[in-house]
Amino acid sequence: MERQRSFSFKPTRLLLFTFTLFSSIFFLSSFTIWLTKSTTTPSPNTVSVNLQPLTVHSLTTHNFTLQKLPSLIDNRLSRSQNNVSGSKSEAIENNHVGAASSVNSTVMHGNRTKVEVSKSKVLIFKKVEVKKIVKECDLTKGYWVFDESYPIYARDSCPFIDEGFDCEGNGRLDRNFTKWRWQPKDCDLPRFNATKMLEFIRGKRLVFVGDSINRNQWESMLCMLLSAVKDPKRVYEARGRTITKERGNYCFRFLDYQCTVEYYVSHFLVHESKARVGQKRRPTLRIDAIDHGSSRWRGADILVFNTAHWWSHHKTKAGIYYYQEGTLVHPRLNVSTAFSKAMMTWASWVDKHINSKKTQVFFRSSAPSHFRGGNWNSGGHCTEATYPLNETLNTMYPEKNIIIEETVKQMKTPVTWLNITSLSEFRIDGHPSIYGRKTQSSRIQDCSHWCLPGVPDVWNELLFFHLQNRRG
Ligand SMILES: *[C@@H]1O[C@H](CO)[C@@H](O)[C@H](O)[C@H]1NC(C)=O
Ligand SMILES: *[C@@H]1O[C@H](CO)[C@@H](O)[C@H](O)[C@H]1NC(C)=O
Ligand SMILES: *[C@@H]1O[C@H](CO)[C@@H](O)[C@H](O)[C@H]1NC(C)=O
Ligand SMILES: *[C@@H]1O[C@H](CO)[C@@H](O)[C@H](O)[C@H]1NC(C)=O
Ligand SMILES: *[C@@H]1O[C@H](CO)[C@@H](O)[C@H](O)[C@H]1NC(C)=O
Ligand SMILES: *[C@@H]1O[C@H](CO)[C@@H](O)[C@H](O)[C@H]1NC(C)=O
Ligand SMILES: *[C@@H]1O[C@H](CO)[C@@H](O)[C@H](O)[C@H]1NC(C)=O
Ligand SMILES: *[C@@H]1O[C@H](CO)[C@@H](O)[C@H](O)[C@H]1NC(C)=O
Ligand SMILES: *[C@@H]1O[C@H](CO)[C@@H](O)[C@H](O)[C@H]1NC(C)=O
Repeated sequence: MERQRSFSFKPTRLLLFTFTLFSSIFFLSSFTIWLTKSTTTPSPNTVSVNLQPLTVHSLTTHNFTLQKLPSLIDNRLSRSQNNVSGSKSEAIENNHVGAASSVNSTVMHGNRTKVEVSKSKVLIFKKVEVKKIVKECDLTKGYWVFDESYPIYARDSCPFIDEGFDCEGNGRLDRNFTKWRWQPKDCDLPRFNATKMLEFIRGKRLVFVGDSINRNQWESMLCMLLSAVKDPKRVYEARGRTITKERGNYCFRFLDYQCTVEYYVSHFLVHESKARVGQKRRPTLRIDAIDHGSSRWRGADILVFNTAHWWSHHKTKAGIYYYQEGTLVHPRLNVSTAFSKAMMTWASWVDKHINSKKTQVFFRSSAPSHFRGGNWNSGGHCTEATYPLNETLNTMYPEKNIIIEETVKQMKTPVTWLNITSLSEFRIDGHPSIYGRKTQSSRIQDCSHWCLPGVPDVWNELLFFHLQNRRG
């Protein structure tokens, strides 16, 4: 009856797991002993083993403390000088590298103290002795800071923004919404460095799979990367396609780096099908079968998935003669149950087909919509917003996110959760609203997708951050 999921514990797997665990411990002890002998670092009991598949918070500053003098703590608008923010994140990046790359160098630079002074505030960077402690920093907790050095790319310099996200091209005049930087409470997010990112993906395939919000993020990534390419002609779609919202798969080549940045549409990640129910052939969703496009995703080096929005549409929500498993079309199935089963199907596919030595897998959490006074199809609007929300009220953390988080915990493949839901909640100002098309109609507004440049750039900064930290 129940299909064997590839990530359930079978005896052999348990045995293998136990074996791996013991060898890891053995290796670690040996390494530890070697470490104690070869450096003067005291007890290295703080070396952590990452057996957790979910690598959400495990990547951050390595015993690195950032102290802000309380009396001079920045108000939201203080960091508008390029110089200050630039050098600041550089300092942090350097320390990251130092801490991560070699025990020797971190010990040698142990007590370096760096002081920076700017008009509006004083920051003291103090690098305490490093013992490979991985301090947790919750990137999802923080606030938006107005920063004149943003956006990362100019709208005019990027030909890859399609009409739906090209707010400026469609007549949106205020630009302040492009100038906000996400500031986590307990650490800093380094500014996106396109050269570094391109170096990182040299010779690789970076692949986005999901709905139009993932296309949104993918286009943002193309633009961000293009800003570091000297000759834009050396970036092109492999089959000469131009981006439109109708088409569903694209492969952009960056010749100088021999890499591709690809997007494949998949609204549900599972297979959209048809089945006969009574007299009628009806569209169904095969929650037990992966999307048929999946062969294209295989072999990617970095995979960024999402799915969420289509699960709230009428058919999916009602779930009447819609969800199919094998030849069975459920007369009625709760959308949460169906979503959960679909995610299990996705998880099995990943565990079966993805080699986690080669491929890093990300799942982006759902992006919030901001319709006021109605839904997308009943006059909901967000035009008036030119400033992020002060605070996000009454927003529950979406159930779908929780289902995905639970699914990922059971997988053998490590999946990094790009947890952008809460930080994006503030950004009611970031949607196209009436500027999602050249000819504006005030009747239907787009308060789901995001203008580019804009909020998805920050999601990609998070992706960049995670990639940097996962290395080595
Ligand atoms: C960093 O290491 C120092 C020296 O062992 C220790 O006293 C301090 O608590 C650590 N700091 C953090 C944030 O873990
Ligand atoms: C940035 O720093 C350079 C040299 O340190 C200085 O000449 C320039 O005016 C600074 N720019 C800003 C925007 O503060
Ligand atoms: C560590 O430091 C020692 C002595 O300072 C040096 O001989 C050794 O090559 C260094 N190892 C690394 C990996 O840098
Ligand atoms: C590190 O601390 C020692 C003792 O406090 C001091 O003599 C030395 O100059 C410091 N080194 C650096 C690079 O700050
Ligand atoms: C994602 O962020 C939200 C808001 O901070 C938090 O409630 C949730 O637990 C986070 N999820 C994970 C897996 O960390
Ligand atoms: C943009 O932001 C700046 C700085 O907060 C502010 O002075 C300006 O009035 C804003 N412009 C608009 C159109 O809101
Ligand atoms: C970006 O990364 C490249 C390559 O790692 C480096 O040379 C450059 O200095 C970085 N740029 C900034 C602004 O940090
Ligand atoms: C689906 O079922 C769960 C538990 O059975 C229930 O809590 C939830 O409200 C249901 N959702 C919908 C949309 O009916
Ligand atoms: C932000 O919050 C302050 C104080 O709660 C309030 O006075 C102000 O109107 C709010 N601004 C916006 C744009 O909501």
